[in-house]
Amino acid sequence: MFSLETTATAAYVVAALLFVLSLAGLSKHETSRAGISFGIGGMAIALIATIALAVNHQIEPLGLGLLVVAMVIGAAIGLWRARIVEMTAMPELIALLHSFVGLAAVLVGWNGYLHVEADPAGAEAVQMARDGMLGIHSGEVVIGVFIGAVTFTGSIVANLKLSARMKSAPLMLPGKNILNVGALVVFAALTVWFVIDPQLWVLVVVTVLALLLGWHLVASIGGGDMPVVVSMLNSYSGWAAAAAGFLLGNDLLIVTGALVGSSGAYLSYIMCKAMNRSFISVIAGGFGMESSSGGSDVDYGEHREITADGAAELLANASSVIITPGYGMAVAQAQYGVADLTRKLRERGVNVRFGIHPVAGRLPGHMNVLLAEAKVPYDIVLEMDEINDDFGDTDVVLVIGANDTVNPAASEDPGSPIAGMPVLTVWNANHVIVFKRSMASGYAGVQNPLFFRENTQMLFGDAKDRVDAINAALSEAVAAGH
Ligand code: TAP
Repeated sequence: MFSLETTATAAYVVAALLFVLSLAGLSKHETSRAGISFGIGGMAIALIATIALAVNHQIEPLGLGLLVVAMVIGAAIGLWRARIVEMTAMPELIALLHSFVGLAAVLVGWNGYLHVEADPAGAEAVQMARDGMLGIHSGEVVIGVFIGAVTFTGSIVANLKLSARMKSAPLMLPGKNILNVGALVVFAALTVWFVIDPQLWVLVVVTVLALLLGWHLVASIGGGDMPVVVSMLNSYSGWAAAAAGFLLGNDLLIVTGALVGSSGAYLSYIMCKAMNRSFISVIAGGFGMESSSGGSDVDYGEHREITADGAAELLANASSVIITPGYGMAVAQAQYGVADLTRKLRERGVNVRFGIHPVAGRLPGHMNVLLAEAKVPYDIVLEMDEINDDFGDTDVVLVIGANDTVNPAASEDPGSPIAGMPVLTVWNANHVIVFKRSMASGYAGVQNPLFFRENTQMLFGDAKDRVDAINAALSEAVAAGH
């Protein structure tokens, strides 16, 4: 009564529902573990149903063998990488994974071409011609290959930039906007051509054009805007998967691709709003952006330094403290020391809160995850918008490994590459202590005038060592009865 086909379709519906539940779960940290479990469950069901269908379609033993070998190798590499990856290297790993989705879509597209358009006398092509579907198939091939190839090279550039193997500064080719728009116009024309007359050379040109466009789009985007690029490539990879789903006639791949594509697009939109960037400008490879000064040659004067003991003394006498963590806290793994410091200060009656910038660190929610891991209570961890007005009434701000997210140039220097990005207004507090190892700039490569302000003092060294030293000084003070 139940054919394997209907059972597999039912399994696909269940998997799609589990993916929706997974996305819903991942929207809050309390339910994120359940979200991950739903995702794993959905993917397991999808894989089993797909393999069962392939076996039912009498896949040749060699094909089945290749499928199993590819899955075992892929699973082994995936498990190994996921186990050893550092939290700070997650974005570059994610970018690399997006590139695989793009590459898969290109290969599926080319495979579709070789089976149908390149073999007009073959069974599939004859059947499609009879059903009047040949033109639609050709359109799917060329669009799938295009989206996949843009995602592939774009994600590779994102990976290189995020892992600092490529400069984070934007590539500013002359007439870059015309290059991007021109590539899109040529693509549209070639798509029409390919649908009418599916020649090999057209597909080759579209593939090369898309590979170049993907590279150029992401290379043109500056360091500070990379968070949006990663979520945008996430979205592109979803659309690439959906395109592959159309070609393979796989409904689940279409649904999953659309879920990833639209949620990635929405995340990019939210991040653009948080960073006061134009969504269109970022997805169009920095469209309309002018090259900017960077402000690195401005002389801001001398900076002041403080020792861990001096910082401990300031903190011990404070009544309100705000901690603004950034990427450096993740690198130093200072979150446990920071949690300890928070506990000590709260025991002394100090009002301690955290201010989290939406793009602090290298992942959306990066700081929240680290602080939750170190058991910092959720209710004192506030978003930038919730805390930005309170800095004026704060005695001491501890900037722990943050840089771009506390840079006053964003609001004060219209020529700065991060101009317009909302930042934590830490400089309004009475005292600001900046934990970092040197005077080096942050991810966006922009000099930070905060370091030279009258009320700022630099605490140089590894953030974990410095926080531990402050904790030790505070414990000594307690032991001495201060
Ligand atoms: P950043 O601007 O990246 O600055 C981090 C600072 O931490 C650096 O200036 C570095 O200075 C310091 N640091 C590094 N290791 C340290 C250690 N062991 N101990 C103490 N300090 C250390 O940080 P941010 O304020 O968090 O800003 C994030 C940046 O990354 C933004 O530009 C954002 O656009 C970009 N980004 C964000 C994301 C997401 S989604 N969050 C994704 C990609 C890119 P020293 O070298 O002198 O120590």
